[in-house]
Amino acid sequence: RRWASSHAATPALNQVTEEDLAQFSKILSPQSILSTLGSNSVASSELEPFNNDWMGKYHGDSTTVLRPHTTKEVSEIVRYCNERRIGIVPQGGNTGLVGGSVPTGRGEVVVSLRSMNNVRHFDPVSGTLVADAGCVLQSLTDYLAPHNYIMPVEFGAKGSCMIGGNCSTNAGGVRLLRYGSLHGTVLGLEVVLPDGTILDQLNTLRKDNTGYDLKQLFIGAEGTLGIITGVSILTPPAPQASSNAVLALPSFDSLLPLFQRAKRELSEILSAFEYIDRGAYELSVRHGQGRGLSPEESEGAECFVLIETSGGRREHDEEKLSNLLEGLLSEDKPLINTGVLSQDATQFASIWGLREGITEAVSKEGKAYKYDISIPLSAFKEVVDATRERLREKGLLRPDAVKEVVGYGHIGDGNLHLNVVAAKYTPEIEAALEPFVYELVGKYKGSISAEHGLGVMKAHALHYSKNEVSIEWMRRIKSLFDPNGIMNPGKVLPPPDGTHEPS
Ligand code: FAD
Ligand code: MLT
Ligand code: ZN
Repeated sequence: RRWASSHAATPALNQVTEEDLAQFSKILSPQSILSTLGSNSVASSELEPFNNDWMGKYHGDSTTVLRPHTTKEVSEIVRYCNERRIGIVPQGGNTGLVGGSVPTGRGEVVVSLRSMNNVRHFDPVSGTLVADAGCVLQSLTDYLAPHNYIMPVEFGAKGSCMIGGNCSTNAGGVRLLRYGSLHGTVLGLEVVLPDGTILDQLNTLRKDNTGYDLKQLFIGAEGTLGIITGVSILTPPAPQASSNAVLALPSFDSLLPLFQRAKRELSEILSAFEYIDRGAYELSVRHGQGRGLSPEESEGAECFVLIETSGGRREHDEEKLSNLLEGLLSEDKPLINTGVLSQDATQFASIWGLREGITEAVSKEGKAYKYDISIPLSAFKEVVDATRERLREKGLLRPDAVKEVVGYGHIGDGNLHLNVVAAKYTPEIEAALEPFVYELVGKYKGSISAEHGLGVMKAHALHYSKNEVSIEWMRRIKSLFDPNGIMNPGKVLPPPDGTHEPS
């Protein structure tokens, strides 16, 4: 059956005027408004951090940034924008990698959550944390540390990204293998809906089977269905001991048997298993992101793995990890060339730095085309190689165009980060990569977005991962919540005419 599209055209939106600004001034204090309009106007440079994304790939031209302090203020802003048909871009730490957090030239206002940054409640018995959406992930980790709890989500942007942004993107990261996705750990949300209504679902219950679980719709909605203002999340007890090791593999062929061995031998204490190919490793080392192996140790390795264990008893856990390494090295045809175990907290952090610092290393090296994909583990290398080959065939693999093609990612989650590092963003490179990469992913029945979301980058490519019926019901959900199309326009859903938003 073909579904008639319920989304005929994108509703027209209005630009912010000085009159609108006067209305915002009735809701917010003057310090909470940054605008290039009106009598208190600021220079457009002050809006740059809100108008440009982390990678320097997506650029907006919003005139106005609003920084509410309370849910009521968010509600009043949204209600007004809905009446006036003004687009809204919700923004957390602006660390998103798909252009979802910056405006798209539709005159949107940016609603930044950064002034809503208080912990509302923590229960040290259940581990339930209730926090404002603008709390920075690292600040929540710091808050929990004295209580011996940790956040179930963790990744390289932790110093800037915010818990509301994490929920809105359904961020994955390096702890998903152990603690599962935010669809499982988030217990409740407070959301301002596109008409300004406050949906209070800030439950702290572990179990609640009372019908449709509405909060799940906002996890991963990338701000297209409402603004998350509060999050209730189940935090795990801090492990008594954590260790990690970096292993050098002679060939990619060792990777899957190694993963199987690690799962079997480390069983309940295996908490992360991360992949770094040779190119990504060298980039990270070159840009000083963390502790690598010595040049002798890494010589001849085709790829690298970071293994982390987290458990209840240090001696027991360390023994298991070193037994695994010793066992691997003593075999006739070892799966690894070498492995280095962290000896103290500094080395532990430094080994993680090597992996988590790749994103930053890539952006220091050049401009990144980032493809965050789910594919079978066995295809991780061939997808990177095929992409490199494609660029070579197009004559683009040269220092002034594409410098490198690298791969890294979360093996435990089947999530490869395919990164094409270019001297600059050009339409020619993009045309060589898209839809090539999406078609490749489609061939493996994979996902074009494993954890970063669709944003503006992949909205037009949704059909590579979702069928027609699914997309139609996504559109219906969007129309139901946001009939005027004010919430993060141009993001997530494909444009009705099939066009691609310019980057
Ligand atoms: P923003 O970038 O501000 O926004 C992201 C999206 O969410 C936008 O669509 C925005 O409109 C929406 N949004 C933000 N806040 C709200 C809100 N309160 N209500 C409604 N919508 C909202 N991602 C991973 O999944 N795994 C990783 O391992 C990972 N590592 C990263 C490492 C680095 C160095 C960097 C720069 C990024 C990384 N990311 C990763 C991507 C990014 O950090 C995550 O997507 C993160 O969750 C975004 O949070 P944020 O607060 O910065 O959101
Ligand atoms: C990571 O796993 O490092 C992040 O998702 C960021 C990236 O893809 O670079
Ligand atoms: Zn990742």
